[in-house]
Amino acid sequence: MIDHERRLYLAAHPVAYPLLRLLARLGPVVRVPGLGVVVNDAATARAVLMDERFRKDGPGSPGDLWTPVLGPSVLLNMEGPAHLALRRKLAPLFAPAYVAGLVEDVLRAPLKELDERLARGDRVDLVDAMRLMAGAVICRVIGLGEVPEARARELFADGERVVAMVSLRSRGLSPRQIAVAREVLDRIGDIAAAAYAEGDETTVMGRMRALGLSEAEARGAAGAFFLTGTETVATFVPRLVALIHDHGTRVTDLDAAIEDAMRVTTPTPVMLRSVAEPARIGRARVRPGDRVIIATHNCARAYGPFDPDAARPPEVRRLWFGAGPHFCIGYPLALAEIRAVASVVLAHRPRVVARRAARGVLIPTYRNLWITAS
Ligand code: HEM
Repeated sequence: MIDHERRLYLAAHPVAYPLLRLLARLGPVVRVPGLGVVVNDAATARAVLMDERFRKDGPGSPGDLWTPVLGPSVLLNMEGPAHLALRRKLAPLFAPAYVAGLVEDVLRAPLKELDERLARGDRVDLVDAMRLMAGAVICRVIGLGEVPEARARELFADGERVVAMVSLRSRGLSPRQIAVAREVLDRIGDIAAAAYAEGDETTVMGRMRALGLSEAEARGAAGAFFLTGTETVATFVPRLVALIHDHGTRVTDLDAAIEDAMRVTTPTPVMLRSVAEPARIGRARVRPGDRVIIATHNCARAYGPFDPDAARPPEVRRLWFGAGPHFCIGYPLALAEIRAVASVVLAHRPRVVARRAARGVLIPTYRNLWITAS
């Protein structure tokens, strides 16, 4: 059987992917000169994520990449009490009941259309449909009331452009990249700021204001949600549907299928940390300033091919959403979106009729995945 997931990874990262997989064979923790200390084992990865000596705001951390474009206070580049305080304030905005309502409202019309197209026997490009839907959801989160189709697509493409600036090796963005990213994120910030000014507490931005967040914080948070919460979800759903098709899986438990497809695909294949104090990771000694690369993909793939019925040990559970203080705050939103779309699509027992892998992207995915109802 063709391993389509491997093809997606190779199309996106022809050089880095074989290297990443090779490292998995060299042990649980491997120091790679010029790159950092690579973690390939789930239990060790979890220990690093739970340990405050490994931070997201030092040299070689994600903060290096994103602070110049998002500002200093956007969760993913924060640590300590300030991080905790902001997380606490934002958490209610991602409560399962709240996001379920938001997703249902935004996706009602596009899902009805998708359902009808599949029922008619149309050939549907699930990648295109999913970009539109994930774009629309994030537009609503950052403050657009009604989201026209063209706007959702445009914003999705903008986000993809910014995310594609990051490679598995990059330590920072160039001045030109920062300028382009700022321009895109300013447009997001303006949408967010307008919603903030309106202060409607049924919107995420309005609630941020009510919770006492400043306009600058709300702008930054909107940029962070936009960058982290669009492509991750949009790229995952076609990969999930393709995996189920390729493995001939009979889906009896949708959540188990989603969970194991997450494990196999790992939409965010690595997580970065900067070492703040001398420490050990497995048998490797690390020093302040060292970079730790958690190869989430290697950690997760160690547990074999896609199989939603297999039991998985606790150390690997949801590792693809992180662990500890930075665990994905958007997890309930991501799941609500994925469940909503997957349940409509899978009800048609879709067949994949044609597909193309995407190139030049950070998150491996299909450029197109054409499906029909069977
Ligand atoms: C399939 C979908 C998604 C995946 C696989 C995913 C994965 C992750 C991972 C692995 C982290 C932790 C990174 C680390 O510790 O270095 C994270 C953090 C984060 N995610 Fe997600 N994510 C997804 C969807 C979303 C959505 C929909 C949003 C929301 C709008 C979102 C917003 C965030 C934010 C703001 C953080 C930073 C949290 C913090 O540092 O406290 N994510 N995500």
